[in-house]
Amino acid sequence: MLLSTPSQIIENLTTGVVAVDRELVVCVVNPAAEMVFDSSAKQMIGQSVARFWADIEPLLRETLRSGHSFTRRGARLPLLGRDAHVDLTVTALMGAAGHGVDGLALEIHVVDRLRRLAHDEEIVDHHQAQRLVVQGLAHEIKNPLGGLRGAAQLLERQLGAGEREYTRVIIREADRLQALVDRLSGPTRPTRKTAVNIHQVFEHVRSLLLAEVGPGIRLQRDYDPSLPEIAADPDQLVQAVLNLVRNSVQAMRGAGTIRLRSRIERQFTIGQRRHRQVLRAEVEDDGPGVPPSLRETLFYPMVTGRADGTGLGLSIAQDIVRRHDGLIEYQSQPGRTVFTLFLPFEVKT
Ligand SMILES: Nc1ncnc2c1ncn2[C@@H]1O[C@H](COP(=O)(O)OP(=O)(O)OP(=O)(O)O)[C@@H](O)[C@H]1O
Ligand SMILES: [Mg+2]
Repeated sequence: MLLSTPSQIIENLTTGVVAVDRELVVCVVNPAAEMVFDSSAKQMIGQSVARFWADIEPLLRETLRSGHSFTRRGARLPLLGRDAHVDLTVTALMGAAGHGVDGLALEIHVVDRLRRLAHDEEIVDHHQAQRLVVQGLAHEIKNPLGGLRGAAQLLERQLGAGEREYTRVIIREADRLQALVDRLSGPTRPTRKTAVNIHQVFEHVRSLLLAEVGPGIRLQRDYDPSLPEIAADPDQLVQAVLNLVRNSVQAMRGAGTIRLRSRIERQFTIGQRRHRQVLRAEVEDDGPGVPPSLRETLFYPMVTGRADGTGLGLSIAQDIVRRHDGLIEYQSQPGRTVFTLFLPFEVKT
């Protein structure tokens, strides 16, 4: 026997369901549809569906007239700042006999997200393979570099004051290379997780940055104070967020606004695992955006758009977040770039 009522079933579907009346006014919205439209049922019910999805209005009017249900694959759904692609089925809801169509039911299934998931897995695997190569290389360089520096120091003692200039160059360059090799290795100590509030991490990064940047850069906060703590290594998270915020500062060249935002995201899949809720921590800036030539390979080590960049910041940040079973994604266009950290609340058992 089925224990749930039809409305409970609709509530728990992963497909977005919206019902509209003959005037295309929204009467029913399930939680999955709230996520698709990034609006609450309260905001949507009583409003015309055209307010949330203007392009679809003519098609819906046509369905009301004809009574013919239809399915459209890959329909474009413009949402704030990005386009989603959805599979849409519209069913005409027939009224009492002879009264024609009473309203419409829209079933909306976001396909972007499915595509994105498959793509993510590939990118993360590729990225981790690359990091292993880079870490291996860094390790190989480390030992001979130590020998080189030690030998230069010994040599320095045997040389007269006028000749030390050369050994100094060797030592200075060896130190520079050592710093690079250390960054290439990424965080070397094991991740030590404790209960961390993401806002402590944000505030720490903010205080570090305020000391570095000029008055042209504003650092705003938009926090959800009700967020639970996560199990994380606070120092590593500070490192990851700092890398993102520093990139924003560098991209904005002295003037602009950075927003640190925290939210809960429900029903989110990372890798193979679906989480009931995850933390969404965002770093948003109004700079020029990520150069289009870097977009596909952005998280790979040594990918940089800056003359003095090493291209390691994002690779290290992604590595740290992966150690926390999370994921970093980004969206970018001129005037709005958002890097988003997704981190699970539940501790892995
Ligand atoms: N918020 C942003 N806006 C515009 N471009 C960005 C932003 N974040 C990253 N980028 C681009 O991505 C590139 C790679 O960033 P990443 O942090 O990995 O390396 P980097 O900043 O160049 O060097 P490093 O962090 O090692 O000093 C940057 O050089 C920049 O071109
Ligand atoms: Mg960087």
